Amino acid sequence: MKYSKILGTGSYLPKKVLHNSDLEKLVDTSDEWIRERTGIQQRHIAADDETTLDLAEQAARNAIDASGLTADDIDLIVIATTTPDCVFPSVATMLQARLGITNASPAFDIQAVCAGFAYALGVADNFIRGGSASVVLVIGAETFSRILNWEDRNTCVLFGDGAGAVLLGVSEQPGIHSTHLHADGRYKELLHVPSGVSSGYDAMQQQQAFVQMRGNEVFRMAVSKMREVVEEALAANNMDKSEVDWLVPHQANIRIIQATARKLNMSMDRVVLTVQNHGNTSAASIPLALDTAVRDGRIQRGERLLLEGFGGGFTWGAALITF
Ligand code: ACO
Repeated sequence: MKYSKILGTGSYLPKKVLHNSDLEKLVDTSDEWIRERTGIQQRHIAADDETTLDLAEQAARNAIDASGLTADDIDLIVIATTTPDCVFPSVATMLQARLGITNASPAFDIQAVCAGFAYALGVADNFIRGGSASVVLVIGAETFSRILNWEDRNTCVLFGDGAGAVLLGVSEQPGIHSTHLHADGRYKELLHVPSGVSSGYDAMQQQQAFVQMRGNEVFRMAVSKMREVVEEALAANNMDKSEVDWLVPHQANIRIIQATARKLNMSMDRVVLTVQNHGNTSAASIPLALDTAVRDGRIQRGERLLLEGFGGGFTWGAALITF
């Protein structure tokens, strides 16, 4: 039986930091409102000439360095992003070229918004279990700032840019015990960027090119689906919630994270929290949080991690992992 395991983690954040006080100058909001409702204090924003590919490359190089392998060992790249550089080619194929990989191994992007990393991890894990790949670079990378309406206080205060990566290899022991992916396409209107390549951008309605969210309704759905999927992951592995060492959740809102932690009876000091520093970086938020806690020494080898994410679509998912 083959399993996948995490060989190394990496991440990258753009240099520019936007504090809540900076947003007070852009929209009718306050540091107090943003902190109380979301837990966010600051977020990183990509430079004008910095793209999702640039962020992904830095995170990838850090993960490869941490693994002790080289880029040549990689035989699959999966990148979760909602904000790719181009319509095509994928960010993954462009990254393959940047890393100097010429072994003709597959590379592709996945779009599941904030659940994107859970989806990418699930796909990569299945490639390894099925024997189609042995070293997989899995990345969540976003420049969400590019699809925000900076005049809309309902959304622009919530998001940031960044990238996180893991390098997966083959193992005889799990590693990734299981992944659980879900979607329910009936809720498009609650969270979406309404226009796009095929439906077109109405020049008179530029806001159609930006994130629109009915936050309150998304919030309720996120809390309930996060609770369900963590239970599903534990049940599938016959594990008790007391066996989880770390919750590494999608970082959208501290109140959603606290609700999931309560469900797991986990104290907040066993939850990796980066939302205060990163905001919601969509597909990048879980691997960014993971890498942060690995590098600062909180997450140790052999510990049990529960990753979970929820995003537009709706899409949601979880992974239960022994690190
Ligand atoms: N500053 C000040 N006031 C604001 C702001 C702001 N930035 N934004 C909204 N408000 C106002 C609203 O207009 C409203 O005013 P009103 O009562 O006069 O109408 C009031 O604050 C309360 O608004 P609510 O929407 O009820 O506030 P809520 O407590 O729900 O918090 C939030 C809003 C933070 C967006 C929350 O609902 C949330 O986090 N939702 C979930 C987001 C999420 O999980 N997304 C996941 C995936 S993201 C993805 O996939 C791309």
